[in-house]
Amino acid sequence: MSTKGNTRIAPADGKLGILIPGIGAVSTTFMAGVEAVKRGLGAPIGSLTQLGTIRLGKRTEGRTPKINEFVPLANLENLVFGGWDIFDDNAYQSAAHASVLEPTLLEKVREPLEAIKPMKAVFDPDYVRRLNGPNVKDQGSKMDKAEMLVEDIRQFRQSSGAERLVMIWCGSTEVFHKPAAVHQTLKDFECGLQKNDPDIAPSQIYAYAALKSGVPYANGAPNLTTDTPALLELARDRQIPVCGKDFKTGQTFMKTLIAPGLKARMLGMSGWFSTNILGNRDGEVLEDPGSFKSKEETKLSVLDQILQPQLYPLLYKNLYHAVRINYYPPRGDAKEGWDNIDIFGWLGYPMQIKIDFLCRDSILAAPLVLDLVLFLDLAQRAGMKGIQEWLSFYFKAPMTAPGLYPEHDIFIQLMKLKNTLRWMRGEDLITHLGLEYYD
Ligand SMILES: NC(=O)c1ccc[n+]([C@@H]2O[C@H](COP(=O)([O-])OP(=O)(O)OC[C@H]3O[C@@H](n4cnc5c(N)ncnc54)[C@H](O)[C@@H]3O)[C@@H](O)[C@H]2O)c1
Repeated sequence: MSTKGNTRIAPADGKLGILIPGIGAVSTTFMAGVEAVKRGLGAPIGSLTQLGTIRLGKRTEGRTPKINEFVPLANLENLVFGGWDIFDDNAYQSAAHASVLEPTLLEKVREPLEAIKPMKAVFDPDYVRRLNGPNVKDQGSKMDKAEMLVEDIRQFRQSSGAERLVMIWCGSTEVFHKPAAVHQTLKDFECGLQKNDPDIAPSQIYAYAALKSGVPYANGAPNLTTDTPALLELARDRQIPVCGKDFKTGQTFMKTLIAPGLKARMLGMSGWFSTNILGNRDGEVLEDPGSFKSKEETKLSVLDQILQPQLYPLLYKNLYHAVRINYYPPRGDAKEGWDNIDIFGWLGYPMQIKIDFLCRDSILAAPLVLDLVLFLDLAQRAGMKGIQEWLSFYFKAPMTAPGLYPEHDIFIQLMKLKNTLRWMRGEDLITHLGLEYYD
């Protein structure tokens, strides 16, 4: 147990089990990537925990250790994987189907991937309308299903030999829904599980099972999931960290890079039109208006918070912001995101910026999955519970304490993340902490 700094951090000894609802494009790219890095077949590009450094003290001190030397993080060699999916393809077959990674690379990590066979999923076609698969738990109430997941988690812990576990949702985007009466208290929620309340989504049953089992939970999709008083109560009671929502990867990542810069120079903006074409299974699910609505909410919220039109009406009051996603099978996972930005400068003279980001969704998401599981495990070992706002850096719609607006500016988010690490280890902060909201 390390006692240096403001928190006591238990060591990262032994295996860390990563449990993933959704053995699809993102999760298989993540798992195959970790196996490839372990074998020296590739580098963990895009991962702050693997490549990032942190400045300590004054600039003149020249102290800049690597992040993974500054805080105790689980070693890649110690990661073991498990998960659930409505399809029974093992992780190798699913990765081959997603066709993100080259077959020659996949072949080299075939053995460990083939060993990852999805457990039966908790699924409800009312929440993901475009998919249907055979590998589901179809008996019993929602509470029974939660208990089956708790048992899955227990068995995985035993069979994998994991000392600690983290769960991260990489499943499809569920339809948009708001917190209902059943989400208000833990008691209401548990009663709702018994009564099969339709307002309880599958992702919430996984999160409940994780928290009940003492397992931290991260949400990579825009689903409501743990963003409810009931599940946050459970996380606090059990002293478990949670974070979400929706990985910030392609277009929204670009938005949170560019918008703070334009605002810093007090340039105005009259319109931002974003459109995407993508052809993976995620794109197919997002064709459904209910799932798209969840995504649209998280994508749209970003600009408003960054630009603060209430403080700068001259510059941003009339901003027209639209986001479109189109399913276009020929592209597969290689998404194209176009942005047209109408801005104005001195004396109101108009200008335009065009961005055409030819990206790869899962290649951008995989390192975020890695960082999130390692940091959530660190948070758990450091005794940090409830919402982990310092992990906002990774999300389109960061979870925050009630009444607090989320911070979307990626540079402030990075500052917050690094300051939290400094705070953990008792180093001087470099402003923008914000942890006092969570004391
Ligand atoms: N790739 C990115 O850049 C990115 C960015 C932000 C968010 N996301 C989100 O991450 C999630 C995963 O994306 P993906 O590209 O891997 O999608 P995908 O469709 O390839 O994989 C999702 C998997 O989840 C499974 N699934 C659906 N409901 C389930 C349930 N209840 N239990 C268990 N499995 C279930 C599906 O069968 C599928 O195999 C999506 O919600 C997506 O919106 C991805």
